[in-house]
Amino acid sequence: MTDWSAGYVTDIGYNLGYYTELNPLRLPLAFLQAGIAFPAIATACELGFGQGVSINMHAAATATSWYGTDFNASQVVHARTLAANEALSCQLYDQPFAQFCQRTDLPEFDFIALHGVWTWISDENRQVIVDFLQRKLRVGGVLYISYYTLPAWVTMLPMRDLLYLYEQRMTAPGLERSERIEQALAFTDRLLACHPAYSEFHPQVMSKWQSIRQNKNIHYLSHEYFNREWQPMPFSRLAEWLSASRLHYVCSAHGPDNRQQDHLTAEQLTFVNGIADLPLRETTLDLMVNRQFRRDYWVKGSRTLPQAEKNALLHRQRVVLTVVHAQALAMAAQSAGRPLPAMQPVLQLLSDHQSRSLAELSERLREQGFSFEQVWEAVAKLLAMNTLQPAQGEAESKAARLATDRLNGRLLDWVLVSDTFGFMASPVTGGGVAISKIERLFLAAYRLGQHTPEGWAGFADQSLSQQGQRLAGDHGEMLTSRAQHVQKLTAMAESFMEQKFPLFRALQVV
Ligand SMILES: C[S@@+](CC[C@H](N)C(=O)[O-])C[C@H]1O[C@@H](n2cnc3c(N)ncnc32)[C@H](O)[C@@H]1O
Repeated sequence: MTDWSAGYVTDIGYNLGYYTELNPLRLPLAFLQAGIAFPAIATACELGFGQGVSINMHAAATATSWYGTDFNASQVVHARTLAANEALSCQLYDQPFAQFCQRTDLPEFDFIALHGVWTWISDENRQVIVDFLQRKLRVGGVLYISYYTLPAWVTMLPMRDLLYLYEQRMTAPGLERSERIEQALAFTDRLLACHPAYSEFHPQVMSKWQSIRQNKNIHYLSHEYFNREWQPMPFSRLAEWLSASRLHYVCSAHGPDNRQQDHLTAEQLTFVNGIADLPLRETTLDLMVNRQFRRDYWVKGSRTLPQAEKNALLHRQRVVLTVVHAQALAMAAQSAGRPLPAMQPVLQLLSDHQSRSLAELSERLREQGFSFEQVWEAVAKLLAMNTLQPAQGEAESKAARLATDRLNGRLLDWVLVSDTFGFMASPVTGGGVAISKIERLFLAAYRLGQHTPEGWAGFADQSLSQQGQRLAGDHGEMLTSRAQHVQKLTAMAESFMEQKFPLFRALQVV
């Protein structure tokens, strides 16, 4: 442990994850659902950007100027390698929060975001962030914050303390951290095998432990459970922290969490909705659904929108279908809550994956007898399922295309030599799109002028062979011959060409 890190793990890098909740383009529709005014996001800041995947995607795909810091130097190198792109406005610093937040050359921010940070840092660092929000979040600006939530984690608090204690006190400091962590996990395995009264009394400890044990990702495990600080907190405690910064809670950035009507029983819903006090209501709701992780938007000064203004703003918002149409229909059919008759027609209208405004959708569906409210209700539900995503206008997408093409070009170069992360940037959605390694190899082949499934499959086969990798067969068997391998890849390329390729083209990732 080193002092400058305040007990935070720094010798192992974090996951190469992309988090859509940090995409500023998602704010307007989320805020409109809550009936609250939202700001234009010209400047944004990410505290603790990790490997820099999200911040780079968002800086490339929208006109927002991003700033951020993370004190893990290796992660900053990765983030800056991605950001080496003169079309992109992204300032990446390697300073601890305490230093970065005191910089005098930072602008006021319209949006400050921190994902996976708040409950893993010390009170001193939380104070630094609250002070930063007070000084540097513009009035009307938005905070996105995610954190582990109580009471869902309460039974795991002593287990996680034990893990940390073992790793700190009983493992040799000269060992690799992965080895030290494995020893701490093995100690806890042995402890639980003795059926201690604690886990007998709290049976969910075992199921939670099994899920921790199944996760073999050392990057995730070390950052999740082996920092000195680990303080899940209830919504009410977070609200106390943020009150000094004059922030008001708006809604969750994770769509399904705003749709209590789909998940609670009528009795539960009546109980929660009967609580007028916000911190008490949200804390009760977390208890009702046993929520483990909150991803929330807060605003500095909240203005409730008059209905007419809200409607006018809603009509202008654009959405795009970001999954294959057949899959979207299946997801809609299986979705929780009461069926909404406008869902299928909305999906049909958007099946070409071109973005459309709500005004346009409602205009087209009026002929079929749907009101604007019905269309909006269906769109809101499809947004929560991530079947649809907010989209920016054509002019904004066009302006972002140079930066996303450069970033995506780099990612397609990387896929030829490594298992880099599975996302590319879309100037349509303003953020990242999940794309598997094989799909990225097909796109790399397309970029090099191959236009047939056979060409894509041959290219992917060659690249995988050069990287010493081979796909398994449909039943998990080894594909020993090259011909079998190419055959499998060709089948995948045919289906890709028909289904996902048009989607990725429409999202302008290639
Ligand atoms: C769990 S990771 C999340 C990273 C990223 N937000 C993501 O979700 O991929 C937390 C990050 O915060 C950074 N961090 C923790 N304490 C910090 C501090 N005091 N100053 C700067 N960065 C810090 C860590 O280096 C780490 O990358």
